[in-house]
Formats: sequence, structure tokens, C-alpha cells
Amino acid sequence: MKRIGFLTSGGDCQGLNPAMRGVTETLCTALGDKEVELIGFEDGYKGLIYGRYRKMTRADFSGILNMGGTILGTSREPFKMIQVVDPETGFDKVKEMVKTYNKLKLDCLVMLGGNGSHKTANLLSQKGLNVVTLPKTIDNDIWGTDMTFGCHTAVEIATEAIDRTRTTAASHSRTFLVEIMGHKVGWLALEAGIAGGADAILLPEIPYSVKKVASLIKKNTKAGQKYSIICVAEGAITKEEAKMSKKERAAYYASTGTASDRLAKALSELVPNEIRCVVPGHVQRGGNPCAYDRRFASELGAAAGRLILEGKYGFMIALRGSDLVPVPLEEVAGKLKLVPPDCAEVQYAKALGISFAD
Ligand code: F6P
Repeated sequence: MKRIGFLTSGGDCQGLNPAMRGVTETLCTALGDKEVELIGFEDGYKGLIYGRYRKMTRADFSGILNMGGTILGTSREPFKMIQVVDPETGFDKVKEMVKTYNKLKLDCLVMLGGNGSHKTANLLSQKGLNVVTLPKTIDNDIWGTDMTFGCHTAVEIATEAIDRTRTTAASHSRTFLVEIMGHKVGWLALEAGIAGGADAILLPEIPYSVKKVASLIKKNTKAGQKYSIICVAEGAITKEEAKMSKKERAAYYASTGTASDRLAKALSELVPNEIRCVVPGHVQRGGNPCAYDRRFASELGAAAGRLILEGKYGFMIALRGSDLVPVPLEEVAGKLKLVPPDCAEVQYAKALGISFAD
């Protein structure tokens, strides 16, 4: 008998449902349906904290292989807030989570989450809970795994946004700034920018010069290219902004809009071209997972299921090369997988003539 609790935490992405289905199918196939009890916590860690859960069966995870979002709901519970005990009521979220887990006599908590969520998962593991996690996020920024599920689907959507922008840009001879999700990490913008053939890609990891972007647009115009496409990560940062303190930057951003808004304004003073911004936003996280993410999330789920059958806990299942391997949670928690400015993908993009305006 195995009693498993599921929770999906942080920003949603495509592949959460197939991943949970993968765990369930693996356990039920190996042990038989009657030997597996499933609990679904609602809205991420909130469900575990406040005891909001429902009993589920294999049937609840059927027919969701191709479904986006999460059937459990999700929420963001920042790690630094998780550990804060309410001074008035003494309510301790960590204690409550341990209490719920013990009350339900779980054999394992399966957490599907991103960076912040892994810090909490590691904390719970250190508190003695059996935890196995799966790496989800469109940002592909979880340390320890080559890929996260959700990213491939988002790259497809972001690339289509660039493709669709291109035709209207060409018709109107406009310069378009396409803002792609990724506040701290630019994998999504990098991949979609290359796939979409952007003229420039601006990433959080590579501070850019506005003047260099302006020169690129002027050069394109002079060469007879009637339009330009600049792929701007949400967290793209200018060389000047990179010199500001975190506090100064937050204050500056609060009054100047998004990364593409700021760049559009700065460019309007440097080039005569008509400039427009496109922000696909949460559409990048929405809709059904692509075939890669369905398969990948299912296989991650299967690997997690196998680990649980072996009674091994305290791991995230990671993709390393073509293998799925368990990585200890304490190795994953608190680290971000940034785009190294000199990585092969950036070098190939530069070889293709794509500017990073650095
Ligand atoms: O989940 C990752 C992500 O989509 C980032 O790319 C983005 O910066 C952020 O979440 C947006 O968060 P929210 O959905 O809370 O606005």
C-alpha cells in the first residue's frame, strides 16, 4: 500500500497534469489500484498548510494527458513567508504542513514546482517528510536538470508570437519588441529568439546597450530591411540598470513599465522607425502541452513513481543528457540555472548574426 499526496506549486505550466498522471499510472500499474491511495492538495502548498485536500483515484488522472494547467490548482507561497510564524496567532505554516502530512499518514509527498517551491520541498524533507519532486516551469531555470517540463510548449508559443509579429512588422515596416517571459533567466527568450529569427535577443544575464540596439535598427534600415524584430526577455536589463542597486532598480522599474516599454521609449529618441511592443504574457503558459512535454512529463512521472516504489525519498527527478536521474533536494534548493553568457547557444546565435547588444 502506498499513500501519496500531490501538490502543484508556483506558476503553472504545460505538463503538470501528464506528470501527475505518470506517477499515478506507474504506481497503480505496479501495485494495483486498490494498493494506491491518492490525495490531491488544492492550490499548492496552501492545501497542505490549511488542510485543503481531496481523495482521488486513478480515474481522476485519466483523460488529462493533453490538458494544460493543473487539475489541483496552484499558488505562489514565497519561501521567506513560509517560515514566518504569525506573531498574533502563532500560526506556523511549516508545522501545519508537517501536521497535515502526518495526519494523512502519507508515504510520500509529490511536489511539482519551480525554484522557490523546491526550497520549501527541501525544508519539508529536512523536517522528516518523504518528498519526491518534479521540475516544472516554462523558464527552464531549475538547477540540476537539463530541461524542465513546460518549457518546450512555451518556446513553441513564443516562437509563434514572433512569427506572427513578423508578418505584420513586414507589412507596416515597423520595428517590433516582442517581450518573452523570464524575469531572472532568459532561456525561453533565447530559444524563441533563435527559432523565430530575431535580429536581437536581450537577456537578463547579458546587460545590453540601448545605443547598440538603435545602431542595429539603423543598419537594418540602411541595408533595405524594412522591419526589425527584437526579442526582449521580461527581465532584460540595460548596462546602466545593471549598475543600479536592487532597490534603485525596483524604484526605477515601478515608474517606467515593462522592459519593452522602457526600450521602446529609449529607442524612440534614437531612431526614426515606428516602434511597437508585443507582450504575449501568460499565453505562453496557457493551453495544452506539446508532444515533447506530454512525453517528457509522463516519463518524469514514471521515474518518480519508480523511486517511490523503491522507497527512495528526498530527490528531484532530473534530465541529464538522455537519462532521468534522482538529484538530492539539498543540491537543487536555492540555486538558479542561468544562461551562461558564453554558452554554446549564445555563441551559435551570435554566429547566426543575432545581436545581444552587449
Ligand atoms: O512561472 C514562471 C513565470 O511565468 C516567469 O516566466 C514570469 O516571470 C513569472 O512566472 C510570472 O509570474 P506570475 O504568473 O505570478 O505573474
